[in-house]
Amino acid sequence: MNPKSVRESISEYSELALPNDANVLGNLLGGKVMHLVDMCGALAAIRHARCPVVTASIDYMNFLSPVRIGQLLMLRSSVNRVFRTSMEVGVKVLVEDLATGEVRHTSSAYLTFVAIDAAGNRVPIPPVIPETEDEKRRYDEAARRREHRLQMRQKEK
Ligand SMILES: CC(C)(COP(=O)(O)OP(=O)(O)OC[C@H]1O[C@@H](n2cnc3c(N)ncnc32)[C@H](O)[C@@H]1OP(=O)(O)O)[C@@H](O)C(=O)NCCC(=O)NCCS
Repeated sequence: MNPKSVRESISEYSELALPNDANVLGNLLGGKVMHLVDMCGALAAIRHARCPVVTASIDYMNFLSPVRIGQLLMLRSSVNRVFRTSMEVGVKVLVEDLATGEVRHTSSAYLTFVAIDAAGNRVPIPPVIPETEDEKRRYDEAARRREHRLQMRQKEK
């Protein structure tokens, strides 16, 4: 399998916060943000693996400030590290106030996706090559996060 660079699968996804997805205070539901994080993360994972993926885990998420209806959510995802049939993807969520142009960081998350073939079997994923300093840092840190995740998974079992 030929290795691929991180930049080949970097993905972006934007969506306007609409009243349909508001909580009783008129802000965006946290669950809607989580859904978009899963979608944007899956885009980078599928682009890298070029096959279907399933979400194996989502690390904890903070919601640093409310998203108001009418604001624009902008998500960006990249593959941090490939293990064998699984990979860690990082997703960052920014929110733009369209009236002022102010942009805030509201959430970040790490997701693990597993590559699956048409018969539902797990399949190996091409290695990812980190090139920039940030990509190399994320690559190194991903190994530590995976250890923690697998320990938590073992405890749940
Ligand atoms: C994720 C899933 C494919 C793992 O299957 P499994 O039979 O437990 O397979 P394994 O234990 O061999 O795990 C496969 C890979 O996923 C990794 N993995 C599995 N669960 C994980 C978790 N919770 N966090 C991080 N990595 C995980 C394993 O470490 C392994 O990685 P590697 O091949 O890169 O070394 C399976 O549990 C599943 O299908 N879950 C449902 C997924 C889904 O439907 N998601 C949508 C939300 S419901």
